[in-house]
Amino acid sequence: MFMFGFREPEVLERKGLDFFEPARPKPPEKLLGLHDLIISARRNLLSVWPAADYRSSVGQTRILGRQVILVNSPESVKYVMHTRHENFERKSPQMRRALEYLLGDGLFISDGETWKMRRPLVADIVHKNRVPTFGRTMESVTAEMVERWRTTPAGQPVNVLTEMAELTAEIIARAVFGNDLGATAATEVIEGFSRYQSLIDSFNLGYFLGADEGFPVIRGPRLRKSVKRVHKVIDKVVSDHLAGHGDHDSMIELLVRRQKRNPELGLDVNALRNEAATIFMAGHETTAATLTWAWYLLSNAPWVEEQVLAEIEKVTGGRQPGVADVPQLEWCRAVIEETLRLYPPVPILARQAREADRIGNIDVDPAALALVVPWTLHRADDLWDRPERFMPERFLGDKRPIPYSYIPFAIGPRICAGMNFGLTESILCLAILIQRFRVRVAEGFKVEPVCRLTLRPRGGMPVTISAR
Ligand code: HEM
Repeated sequence: MFMFGFREPEVLERKGLDFFEPARPKPPEKLLGLHDLIISARRNLLSVWPAADYRSSVGQTRILGRQVILVNSPESVKYVMHTRHENFERKSPQMRRALEYLLGDGLFISDGETWKMRRPLVADIVHKNRVPTFGRTMESVTAEMVERWRTTPAGQPVNVLTEMAELTAEIIARAVFGNDLGATAATEVIEGFSRYQSLIDSFNLGYFLGADEGFPVIRGPRLRKSVKRVHKVIDKVVSDHLAGHGDHDSMIELLVRRQKRNPELGLDVNALRNEAATIFMAGHETTAATLTWAWYLLSNAPWVEEQVLAEIEKVTGGRQPGVADVPQLEWCRAVIEETLRLYPPVPILARQAREADRIGNIDVDPAALALVVPWTLHRADDLWDRPERFMPERFLGDKRPIPYSYIPFAIGPRICAGMNFGLTESILCLAILIQRFRVRVAEGFKVEPVCRLTLRPRGGMPVTISAR
């Protein structure tokens, strides 16, 4: 299809009896011109990278006079995300502007003193030591899904992206807000978030026109309504907890208790709401996308699925897998890690330089955009053996990727605070569901990965589900 002379990129996918190269947009031969670049970027940020970017390198371009640097080698990733973290800790104006209305000064988009003070607090709330407690919620919510899937007529197409979004939203909602949130309030939050995401445009023209902070997003009536839906529910939960009511194991309760013990933190109702909303948002989309891509990959690689099933049988002897089994589920973990390599839910980590710097041999302007792109880094042909292939065995045993070449959770001081939560959740949900059901991508459906805020399949992922 052509749009003002712009050609929709072809999607590549290759499959044999014992190999699978999953869907990806065909890279353009060379860097697109400004007009095509803008159209292509707004349609799908994955299709703008020319073939030469799929190897480790550092490059730059200018968009309307604004310097944009591609940080795409292990050394340069280390430099930006670790060594010079303080100069590159700031999220891009696009990201900050797109999310500030919903998340305020929440950790995901804050920087400077606010980030420094809140990071240990949030990291502690979702720390790996707490994962076993939240693991019980993961087990029971997934068991409820097993019951629901049992009643799905075999052969009837189901959108597994929606299913996974419901699953992970329910898990994170119960973890953040507590088990007594109630179905109506949970639906309000989940729908409010999803509406917000569908309305928001993450391209900020103002930044490219010279405004270092970008232009604020226009807060139209539909956007305002979606934000009100979310804030109203969270504010009520926060006030209940501040008044001493509410679920004692919830993340909000942990935040409130911390504030009571350390009043100098200054977490008022707004700050508590912003952090709760941030954890909810950061923790739900990403895991849903991971699980959806894992279903797609396994559906096309039955030889891997066999290994996964044999391992689950060996570890559990047929009972439902639990959070305590996760360390033994090595194939499940390798499948999730390989899924995160091929389809990193946050495929572009965009940072804004505070001051002038030098990355590799490129002089960086103050306020320039530095793009660390897991999508291209994870497929660089000088860093990975057959990068386009789905090969979970590359993560088995002691095999580890080259340092700073594999960063689905980012890296450095701003690494995902919920990494262990997200990994455990993805492995456990996959193990529980795959033990009971065979999931296959609907016949004839053409998968196209697209990126706006996260990396997801365009139009969802229709599958058929049948009981084993
Ligand atoms: C497979 C699942 C997940 C993936 C792939 C993932 C990935 C990421 C990435 C790439 C970032 C950094 C973004 C950037 O630097 O621009 C991030 C940040 C964050 N994630 Fe996750 N995440 C996942 C699950 C979770 C979960 C389950 C939680 C909470 C329970 C969570 C909480 C956070 C928070 C709070 C931040 C902000 C950290 C900071 O800026 O200091 N994430 N995540």
